[in-house]
Amino acid sequence: MANLLAKKPLSAIMGEANESGEHSLRRVLGPTNLITLGIGAIIGTGIFVLTGPATAEHAGPAIVLSFVLAAVACVFAGLCYAEFASMIPVAGSAYTYGYATLGEIFAWIIGWDLILEYAFGAATVASGWSGYVLSLLQDFGIRLSPRLAGAPGTEFVLWNGHWEKLSRVAKALQVAHVDPGTLPTQTSAFNLVGFIGIALVTIILVIGIKESANFNSFIVVVKVCVLLIFLGLGANYIFGHMTEARANWTPFLPANTGEYGNFGWSGIATAAGVIFFAYIGFDAVSTAAQEAKNPRRDMPIGILGSLVICTILYILVAAVLTGLVKYTNLDVPDPIAIGIDTTGVRWGSLLVKIGAICGLSSTMVVMLLGQSRVFFSMSKDGLLPEWASKVHPKFRTPYISSIFVGIFVAFFAALIPIGILGELVSIGTLLAFVIVCAGVWILRRRGTDVPRAFVTPWVPFTPIMGMAVSLLMMYSLGLWTWVRLVVWLAIGMVIYFTYGQKHSRVQRGLTGPAIPPGSRMSEPVAK
Ligand code: ALA
Repeated sequence: MANLLAKKPLSAIMGEANESGEHSLRRVLGPTNLITLGIGAIIGTGIFVLTGPATAEHAGPAIVLSFVLAAVACVFAGLCYAEFASMIPVAGSAYTYGYATLGEIFAWIIGWDLILEYAFGAATVASGWSGYVLSLLQDFGIRLSPRLAGAPGTEFVLWNGHWEKLSRVAKALQVAHVDPGTLPTQTSAFNLVGFIGIALVTIILVIGIKESANFNSFIVVVKVCVLLIFLGLGANYIFGHMTEARANWTPFLPANTGEYGNFGWSGIATAAGVIFFAYIGFDAVSTAAQEAKNPRRDMPIGILGSLVICTILYILVAAVLTGLVKYTNLDVPDPIAIGIDTTGVRWGSLLVKIGAICGLSSTMVVMLLGQSRVFFSMSKDGLLPEWASKVHPKFRTPYISSIFVGIFVAFFAALIPIGILGELVSIGTLLAFVIVCAGVWILRRRGTDVPRAFVTPWVPFTPIMGMAVSLLMMYSLGLWTWVRLVVWLAIGMVIYFTYGQKHSRVQRGLTGPAIPPGSRMSEPVAK
């Protein structure tokens, strides 16, 4: 009978982390690369799109507090990720941390769950990206058929000379007293633009980590600049129109309408759940641990640095946006563009579209990078077939796993509606947070003398808070999302018991003896 709680010895994990040669990943990333990798994953659909509806429907100007609340939740989890990533710097991230602390079955669950975060995350972003690409092309007079611009069943309407997703402009049509039934409509069958986006990103990932990181750094500069330009123009306008801004910020916390989540304090919490998506991605830095030059020192810098920078940016953007535009007018898919328009700068909308397209491309890069690295680690452990950890002799990237993941994700992006994808990403990410926080706490209780460059402060307070806040946010997601999560995990279990468990290297004793459950982990590892 296999031991489901068999743990992977830390000595074996550290041995893999220190591997070199043509079958290993290339160590080229420094602290700046890692921070930009994090920012690349974080800034995307969340800030460019979700801020608008979250402000208009749930929090009002107090959206600033929602950004603080969501950031606090992420910081608790981020501190736990940072400890693990500095202690066990391997590509598998939460999956490997689970293997070392909780046992194989939990590791499998996390690895399988991370597909929801990374693969479905990339597909979600590709879906949003395709909307912006379509809109920018239309600005230049290039009109693609909406039949190839959305998941099957997505309705488009021709409005103001642009094909727009009906769900995106429904509110605006209502405000303009336009009956959508009177506009030309088309229903899409396949999101070709999203499909092509994932294909392009996959090619970049196969070519190389350094190239991917350089591409990512360039794009991060563009999207951060777009947000900084927004802040500069917006703050300048606000200082010249203080009375108008004060009126927009009042009331700061609109009174609750009597329904949970509709303004008031519960509105702040609900909006935090919505814009949580904006922070997803900092943990993806940990999947690049085997490609970092000095992972013990630089992993915490990458994870926490990118999280702190994005938190500051987000809070400032939210404050300026609500000063520029009355919150009731922010129920739009392009809130940042609306904000810039208020300042009187005519090229604002174009700038935001370019920023969003760049922003979303780098989010796709990092998510797909993370996914292929997790598969790489699972395959090295025998839980997935060997081809998933095959490294290209020239590019030194796990090319087969990148291509395999790319093909699947391209089809997810082309065929699954963005709403379903987005909620699955949130629940999958939150589950991974819960397990990572639990892992840090368990490891502390068990005691280990494995050195870490970064130690999570206030244990067990920090991991408990990380788990509590994550579970609370999971609770707020709909019943169907839970059903999909359970079905997804059940499929994973079938694969584990029919393949993974039988081929597991730990089960076959190929990484040294598996540590029996409950035993003390005390394997000194040289720094
Ligand atoms: N944080 C990423 C985004 O907002 C996933 O697109």
